[in-house]
Amino acid sequence: MKGDARGIDWDAYWAAYPTMTYEQVAEFHRLIWDVFPDQCHHSREALDRFFAGSGPISVVELGGWRGEAAAWLLDRHPAIARWVNIEICEPAVRAPATQDPRYRPVFPDRWAWDLPPAPFDVAVLAHVIEHILPAQLNQLVAWLAACGVRRVYVEAPLLDAGQRWRHSTSSHLLEIGWAAVVALFGERGYKLVERIPLPTRDACLFEAAP
Ligand SMILES: C[S@@+](CC[C@H](N)C(=O)[O-])C[C@H]1O[C@@H](n2cnc3c(N)ncnc32)[C@H](O)[C@@H]1O
Repeated sequence: MKGDARGIDWDAYWAAYPTMTYEQVAEFHRLIWDVFPDQCHHSREALDRFFAGSGPISVVELGGWRGEAAAWLLDRHPAIARWVNIEICEPAVRAPATQDPRYRPVFPDRWAWDLPPAPFDVAVLAHVIEHILPAQLNQLVAWLAACGVRRVYVEAPLLDAGQRWRHSTSSHLLEIGWAAVVALFGERGYKLVERIPLPTRDACLFEAAP
């Protein structure tokens, strides 16, 4: 998929995405890696707040790129026993930001939500849900529930009412806003417990109902 000066036609990706296979989206991310290898967007402060005071936990992350958030948090939070980053960009998986033995990057052969559920306590979704469709987000949240995840960190540049991303020169796709995202999590038993205002438009912390 070619286009602008850096070789990417974002509008073509936006239009094609609903019919693209997992393999095609993974291939597109090889191109992203070549031209935009720095994808760090998460808030260290908000994540630190989310992990403060945790007991022993296992973490699943979707779209953690090279594991930059994991690297920082694993150093600061010894209670994190295991951190699995499920990442669609294979080159990012092959260039981990940490050698911490608790960190495991995974480049799966299918969408994360099509993997067999595995037990995890906590999920981190930092600047990733805006890159998928509402139906995929629904599948992802159902998968997290099937994994037994109790707490979820979601950071994304969303407005409350949603927005169009066409012509945004990014691979953003999710056009529902925070209100609909909170409702979607609610349907799977996750309650919004805190919203942390950020310049990049917020982190929402969810907890499974007891
Ligand atoms: C902007 S980066 C965020 C990286 C990191 N989580 C952070 O906040 O610093 C977006 C991440 O979402 C992943 N991603 C993008 N589109 C995706 C898709 N359709 N399905 C799964 N992951 C996707 C990318 O590979 C990347 O890891």
